[in-house]
Amino acid sequence: MENGWILIFDSGVGGLTILHRMLQMYPNENYYYYADVANVPYGNKDKDEVQDLILKAIASVNQRYNLKSIVIACNTATSVAIQSLRNLYSIPIIGMEPAIKPGISQLTNGSICVMATALTLQEEKFQNLIKNLNVDDKVVSIAMPELVEAAEEFDFNSPKLVATIKRKLSSINWSQIEVLVLGCTHFIYFSKLLSFLLPDHVKIIDGNEGTIRQISNKLTHFNRANGQVITSLSGKEIDNELIKPYLDFLDKLKSQ
Ligand code: DGL
Repeated sequence: MENGWILIFDSGVGGLTILHRMLQMYPNENYYYYADVANVPYGNKDKDEVQDLILKAIASVNQRYNLKSIVIACNTATSVAIQSLRNLYSIPIIGMEPAIKPGISQLTNGSICVMATALTLQEEKFQNLIKNLNVDDKVVSIAMPELVEAAEEFDFNSPKLVATIKRKLSSINWSQIEVLVLGCTHFIYFSKLLSFLLPDHVKIIDGNEGTIRQISNKLTHFNRANGQVITSLSGKEIDNELIKPYLDFLDKLKSQ
């Protein structure tokens, strides 16, 4: 199956943060990037509704393309659908979860703050992760749907957005927080802005590198020909030029 496609799935532009890294590491692979923009945001919808949307979208891609693996580049989608997807498909399926374990391992005597969507935070998968690590007293959380919306609008630093972020951040006592975990792929675009707004002692981490490692481990058959990228907005294939500003923004973010 070396010439198969790697499906990278998200509710919108968040998963481009994974595609961006994959293109740097494995430029010869074929990527099908699916952004379910007709239904973004997932994070404040009902679990069953989101699961249904994901299963239908992936089934429609799978009917038309020879998929060799599926990357759910979205914490919210992973929490509600990863199990059903693994029951349905026998190809490798890689998901994402907030990097709580790496966050906890970096603590001295403070706590971590997990920033994610409301759906991720309320889901059993997240609750179990905290319970199994026995770190209930070390984790505070904050839902930031505003950042999902802003990323979709390519707004990374408007004064209105910065004021909203500052207001939301002020609900947390940052003197106790040593690590901020970005538990939503849309939030990666704001990592520099957040580090600027937060006190210097707060370290910001995300789950992207861990996910990229997992994808690398599961990629056993590599493409021999030149790779391609197809971008789909809720099933409608579009010109890749439309995602270029996001990929360029991520290039800039890395080099700063
Ligand atoms: N990018 C998604 C995540 O990682 C969520 C965005 C949404 O609410 O749709 O959780």
